[in-house]
Amino acid sequence: MPITVEKLGQTFFAIVQGVDAQEPTVSEDINAIIDAIDDYGVLLFPGQTLNEEQHMAFSRQFGELEVTYQKGRKRRLRAEFADASNLGPDGELLAPDSERAKYNKANQLWHSDASFRAIPSKYSLLYAETAASKDGETEFADERAGWDALDDERKTRAEKMVAGHSLMTSRIKTGFKTFTAEEGVSLKPVPQPVVRTHDPKGRKNLFLGSHAGEVFGEALEEGTQFLEELLAHTTQPQFVYRHKWTVGDLVMWDNRRVMHRGRSWDESERRVMRRTTLVGDGPTVIDGQPINEAEYLRQEAS
Ligand code: OGA
Ligand code: MN
Repeated sequence: MPITVEKLGQTFFAIVQGVDAQEPTVSEDINAIIDAIDDYGVLLFPGQTLNEEQHMAFSRQFGELEVTYQKGRKRRLRAEFADASNLGPDGELLAPDSERAKYNKANQLWHSDASFRAIPSKYSLLYAETAASKDGETEFADERAGWDALDDERKTRAEKMVAGHSLMTSRIKTGFKTFTAEEGVSLKPVPQPVVRTHDPKGRKNLFLGSHAGEVFGEALEEGTQFLEELLAHTTQPQFVYRHKWTVGDLVMWDNRRVMHRGRSWDESERRVMRRTTLVGDGPTVIDGQPINEAEYLRQEAS
């Protein structure tokens, strides 16, 4: 059966029918999915039933999986998964004031997954095993539409900018404190451009989010204020799509051009979600300067 793609949001977010993620996907459909995510940024594959192996196998068809940097912490899921549930390592409900709950709370700030890695991630695939009966949606913001709608003056300023992204920057905002000494060293801010150029068709987009702290070469206050202004711009209602989860939804997004955030729910209820994340294709900054990513990849390939 051929797959169908239908846009649900104003500028982005599409639903894809005709894919059974339990089965290997034929190469024409892989190409169609990649084309669709290039155009729509976020894809919903409804009605899936995926165990951990199947979730990983479907994801690996699009590249290599990231493994967790959270070394030495007891985990509910294996290293290939990020845990977006409100459960502890033994499947117990997390106390809302626990360190782990504070860590998870940062998912409710606008972000792009793993933008704190030197090579930031490509796609994420989040699967709903149990949904909250009320609330607990995930919102997505279209940073390509945000860029397109930006005035020329701010475009010119943003294009030269490189920001420091660190996991600590986002976690500190939700009161998480217990980083290990090893994490203290490995979580130094990494440089990321404020405007991404990964798209082979030359479409640009903003690249923002809660892991971003300072803008290199600018006074801290001035830089962060400008980043906040851009974030407020690109999260206006016309650029945002809110997804209400149904059990069996698999949502795949391109971290290079959309941000997302979870919404709160009554945490006495279990919400069980797991995510795989795909390793990015290449660097975004060389010697402190933003590079044209698509051009860099074309040169690498030739
Ligand atoms: C994630 C994430 C938000 C949510 O899994 O990367 O940010 O709504 N999740 O669970
Ligand atoms: Mn996330």
